[in-house]
Formats: sequence, structure tokens, C-alpha cells
Amino acid sequence: MGFKRGISSLLFIVPVVLGLVPPQKRATCPDGVHSAANAQCCSLFQVRDDLLNNLFENECGDEAHGALRLLFHDAIGFDPKIGGGGADGSIAIFNSTELTFPANAGIDDILDVLGPFLLKWEHVMSPGDFIQFAGVLSLVNCPGAPKVKFAMGRPPPKAASPPNLVPNPFDSVPTILSRFGSVGFSPEEVVALLSSHSVAGADDVDPSIPGTPFDSTPAVFDTQFFVDVQMRGTLFTGTGGNQGEVESAIKGTLRLQSDHELARDSATDCIWQSFVNNQSKMQTEFGAALFKMSLLGQNSASLIDCSDVIPQPLSFTGSATFPPTLSHADVEQACATSSFPNLPTQPGPPLVVPPM
Ligand code: HEM
Repeated sequence: MGFKRGISSLLFIVPVVLGLVPPQKRATCPDGVHSAANAQCCSLFQVRDDLLNNLFENECGDEAHGALRLLFHDAIGFDPKIGGGGADGSIAIFNSTELTFPANAGIDDILDVLGPFLLKWEHVMSPGDFIQFAGVLSLVNCPGAPKVKFAMGRPPPKAASPPNLVPNPFDSVPTILSRFGSVGFSPEEVVALLSSHSVAGADDVDPSIPGTPFDSTPAVFDTQFFVDVQMRGTLFTGTGGNQGEVESAIKGTLRLQSDHELARDSATDCIWQSFVNNQSKMQTEFGAALFKMSLLGQNSASLIDCSDVIPQPLSFTGSATFPPTLSHADVEQACATSSFPNLPTQPGPPLVVPPM
């Protein structure tokens, strides 16, 4: 992998940094087309257009899903006691270390595709900025996703993240909540962040079925994920018996053990249920938590707010349903204080969701 070998020696030009408070007047950019609240954000429009057209190819597909996961795996590499630089780009620059962490399985695929773009724009953005920028932009073509804020000015990474900071799908709920808690995320924010699994799937959990989605609508950022994971598991799409996987309810999907347990643990079950069919809650809370994640390990006061470079994602007007042939009777009720919403059942024969 050429990218892995070449990148660590590069120098990165970090933009001059200002406060997060935008100036009053919008600056017209030198291209004469765009304007930005802070003139230093002007250079990002060309990077944005390149990524949307040539990396994501204007789709909520493989590359978009990979870039969103990469944002998380870079940022979570931080702990106030253990160390790590958080959202610093270390996962790209020190990939020879970080890609050996088992929880980073499959991250090499997205780094291989995204790496050349990171190098192409290294005169404009640091690796940490680039990874967060790409992650936020990955949502633009996923109908229903929120517009997430973006701030620029992260310094280059100094070292690889320490091991064991990225959660595994076989970790217990207390372990997961404690890992996120150590970097300031509440159980509500953890569940909100897992909205990302609405536009996601697995290549490596069951390697016999790469590209298997976590819900029945992997190209739409909707609350169907919270429904599908709450249905009683009855089948494995692939071989089954893989670490970190439990039975799912819909052929063609794969259910992570961690998602399954977060939907059923008393610490998070009612939170999980509260996202069902509540698109605006999902958007608001996920957007806020993702932006907070993008600041992990960073000095937010020294970053520039460049949120006006991020386009509004495609809209979504649908609502959650029970998959064909399934109904309220197939819900594995967990929340003790309110019952799962009753939803219409989609017509037709049992669903078989195609690979992504
Ligand atoms: C409890 C915490 C989490 C665990 C245990 C977890 C685990 C996983 C696993 C095992 C995969 C499949 C990897 C593969 O086999 O290809 C995956 C995919 C993914 N995860 Fe998570 N995840 C967590 C939280 C998050 C968060 C917070 C985000 C983003 C904010 C995220 C975004 C994604 C995305 C977008 C994918 C799909 C990647 C692709 O399709 O290429 N995950 N996650």
C-alpha cells in the first residue's frame, strides 16, 4: 500500500487560526463565486467539490460510509488519562501503528481511497482537518442527514493513538459507555452517535458477506436502524457465529452485538426507543454529538468556524415502518416505561436487503 509508506514524512501547512466566533461581514472568495463568513474558509470550497464529485461520486455509498467511520476512529483515539491526539489525523499519518488495532479492521480500505485526496490537499488542510471535513461531507448525499458543523485549524498529529481506545462490537454496554464517558459523552449522546449505523454496514465482521448493511435502508439517514435492531433476531445472513455479531431480523442485514445490547440495556433502551420515527431528534442530537466528537483532543478556541462550506444534505420525508411480514409482536420490548411505537408494516414478502 503506497499510501501507508509515503505519508508520514510530509509537512503540513496549517492554516492561521482565529477564534470560532465568525466576523460580522461575509467575505467574497477570490474565485468570485463563493462567499464565507471567514475568508480563510474560501480555500475549502475547491476541496469540498473535489470530495463530493470524485471521492463520494455524489452518492451515500461505500466511500461515504467509510469516511464517516474514519472520522470516528480518528477522533476517539484520545483519553484524558492515557493520551492520544483525538481528531488529529493520526490514523492516516501513523497508520502503520493504528491499523494494527483490531477495532480498526477494514479502515485500510477507506484510507487507500481517501489518502490520495488527503495528499492532494495537504497544502490547504492538515490531516486532522481533512478527515473530519471528509466525514462531515460524507453525509451530504445521505437523505435525512443533518448539516454538521465543521471547524478548521487542527495542528498535525504528533504520534499514533494509544491502543484499545476504539470500541469493539463485542464490548459490554458498561465498557462502551465508560469509554465514551471518559471523553465526555453521555449515554444519550452515545445512542445519538450510533445513528451513523443507519448509513453503514460491515465488511469484516462476517468476511463471507462483505458490504452487509446494518439496517434495511443503508443509503438513507433515517430512524429505520433503531426499528430494525429492536426486532427479535431470528437469522444470520452469512455464516453466523462471528465475534461481535448476533442474529438479525431481516435477511441481508447484519446486527452488531453492541447495537443489539445498547437497544436492550436498561441504561440506554428507552433512549434507543426514543429515536424511532423521530427524524428531527436524530438529526439534532447526532449533529451536535458528531461536531463535539470532531473536537476531541483539540483546542476548540483556536479553530475557525467553516460550517458555511458544508452544503445542506438531501432531505428525507419518509417515516419508519415495520419490515414486510413483521409487526409490533416482533418487537423485543426493552424500555420499561413506555411501549415501542406502533408502525405500519411494509407490504410484500419478507425483505432481502442487497449488499451495499
Ligand atoms: C459502540 C460504538 C461502536 C462500535 C462498537 C462500532 C462498530 C462498528 C463495526 C464493527 C463496524 C463494521 C466494520 C466492518 O466490518 O467493516 C462499523 C461500521 C461503521 N461504523 Fe461503527 N461502531 C461504533 C460507533 C460508531 C460511531 C460513533 C460512528 C460514527 C459517528 C460509526 C460509524 C460507522 C460507519 C459509518 C460504519 C460503516 C463503514 C462502512 O460501511 O464502510 N460507528 N462500526
